[in-house]
Amino acid sequence: MSRRRYAVCGLSNRGVTSFVCPLLGVRAGEDTELGFGANHEDYSSHGGLVAVVDPDKERVAQFNAELIPPGHPRVPWYPPDQFGAMIEQDRPDTVIVASPDHTHTDYILAALERGVDVITEKPMVTTAADARRVLAAERASPANVLVTHNLRYVRRHQQIKRLVRDGAVGRPTYVTLEYHVDIRHGASYFLRWNRRRALSGGLSVHKGAHHLDLVSWWLDDVPERVYAVGGRSYYGPDSPHRPRSADGTTYSGRELRARDPYFRAQVGSGAFPDDAATDRVGFLGLTYPHQYPAGREMYLYDDEIDIEDTYSSLLSYSNGASLSYTIDFSSPWEGYRLVINGTHGQLETMSGRLPDGTPLGDSSSIIYRPLFGEPETIEVQTVTGGHGGADPLMRRDIFVEPSAASRELGLAASSLEGAVAVAAGEAIWRSSAEGRVIELRELLGEELDG
Ligand SMILES: NC(=O)c1ccc[n+]([C@@H]2O[C@H](COP(=O)([O-])OP(=O)(O)OC[C@H]3O[C@@H](n4cnc5c(N)ncnc54)[C@H](O)[C@@H]3O)[C@@H](O)[C@H]2O)c1
Repeated sequence: MSRRRYAVCGLSNRGVTSFVCPLLGVRAGEDTELGFGANHEDYSSHGGLVAVVDPDKERVAQFNAELIPPGHPRVPWYPPDQFGAMIEQDRPDTVIVASPDHTHTDYILAALERGVDVITEKPMVTTAADARRVLAAERASPANVLVTHNLRYVRRHQQIKRLVRDGAVGRPTYVTLEYHVDIRHGASYFLRWNRRRALSGGLSVHKGAHHLDLVSWWLDDVPERVYAVGGRSYYGPDSPHRPRSADGTTYSGRELRARDPYFRAQVGSGAFPDDAATDRVGFLGLTYPHQYPAGREMYLYDDEIDIEDTYSSLLSYSNGASLSYTIDFSSPWEGYRLVINGTHGQLETMSGRLPDGTPLGDSSSIIYRPLFGEPETIEVQTVTGGHGGADPLMRRDIFVEPSAASRELGLAASSLEGAVAVAAGEAIWRSSAEGRVIELRELLGEELDG
C-alpha cells in the first residue's frame, strides 16, 4: 500500500486533533465539549505527515517536545513564507489547510498552482470573491480541492439525506433550522480571532457554512435569494451584559473579569483565559505564543469585535423550497431543531444539551410524519467521537478510502459546494447589513451554473 504524503497548514486546535495526531497515530486526548478529540485513531500506515506550516515556531516545538512519544521522529516545521520551499523539499501529495479561515485562500491557490491536492477546513474561504478564485484555479490545475463539511457525516444527517432523496416528504417545500450556540461556546468565538470579519468572514460564514451546506446537500439544491436580519445583541462594546459602574464607567482587567457574567458562569471551564497575563491554552495543553501572546487582553466587549452574534434569515432555493434559518451565539442551550416539510410529509429532529450536559431532544432519532399515515420514529445509530461521531467517519474516508455510504450519499464536499456555503453565509450578513435581498448570483456569478 502506498502511503500518501500530507503537509498540514495550521497546527490549530482542529489541525492538531483532527489531522496531525491521527496521521502520526499519537493519542489526542479525550472528547472536549467543543467537539474535538476522542480520536485515538492511527492512520500512520495510510499516510505520513511530512510538514507543518505555521508562523508559531514555539507552538510546533511544544508539540514536538510534549506530544510526540520518545523515539518517534519530530514534525518538520516551516513558516508560511516557506510554503513553496516546503512543497519542493517534502513533496506532499496533499496539503491539509487547517489554519485561520482568512489564510485558506493563499494556501489553496499555492497548492493548486503546484498541482498538489487540497483538503481544506470549512469554511473553504471567507468571501465569495475568494471562492471564485479557488474555483478558477482548480479548473486550471490537475489537482482537486475537497472541503471538510464534516457535519454531513453525522449518522442522523446521513439518514435525513436518504429519506429526502427517497421521497419520504415528497417535494421539499420549506425547512426550518433553529440553531443555538450556548453562552460558553458562543462567547469563545468573541475571545478568539473569529471575532473579526476579516479573519473569519463573520459567524454566518464561519459557523453558518456548516448548516447552509447541510441544507443544500439534503435538498440537493442551491440557494438563489437571501434576506436576513442580524446584529450584535450580546457581545461588543454595546453589550447589555457589559459590566458598568453606577456612573456608566466600564471596567478592564481583573475588575472586569470579576463582574463579567459570561466569565463568572465559566470560571475554570478552560473556555476563557483565567488571566490575561498567562498563556492562552488550547487543546492538548498547547499554548499560542504567536497568535495570543501572554499579556494581550481580550474581552467580550472589545471595540475590535465587528461581527454579528444573531441572525434570522430566509433563503429561497432554485427548486422552489425555502429555508428559515436562525442562529444565535449566546443561548441557554446548544443544539438545533430541524423540520423539513414537503408535499407528502414531514421530518423532524431535535438535538441539544444544557450547559450541565443534560440532553435535550433525542439525537438518535428522527420523527417521520407522512401526510396521510401514521407517524414513525426512525432510530439512528449513534457513534462516538468529535461532532456527533462525524469526525472519525470523515477521517476514515479521507485517509483510507471513501466508504459505501460516502459514495452513495456524496459525503465529500466539492469546492463548488464549499463556495455555495460561503456565498450563502456572506449573503446573510450582507443582506442584514444592507437591508436588501441578495441574489447568490451577485456573489458567485456563472459559477452557480457549474
Ligand atoms: N470542521 C469543523 O468542525 C471545525 C471545527 C473547528 C475549527 N474548524 C476550522 O479549523 C481551522 C482552524 O481553527 P481553530 O479554531 O482550530 O484554530 P486555532 O485558533 O486553534 O489555531 C490557529 C493556528 O493557525 C496558526 N496560524 C495563524 N496564521 C497562520 C498562517 N498564515 N498559516 C498557517 N498557520 C497559521 C496559529 O499559529 C495557530 O497555531 C479554521 O478554518 C476553522 O474554521 C473546523
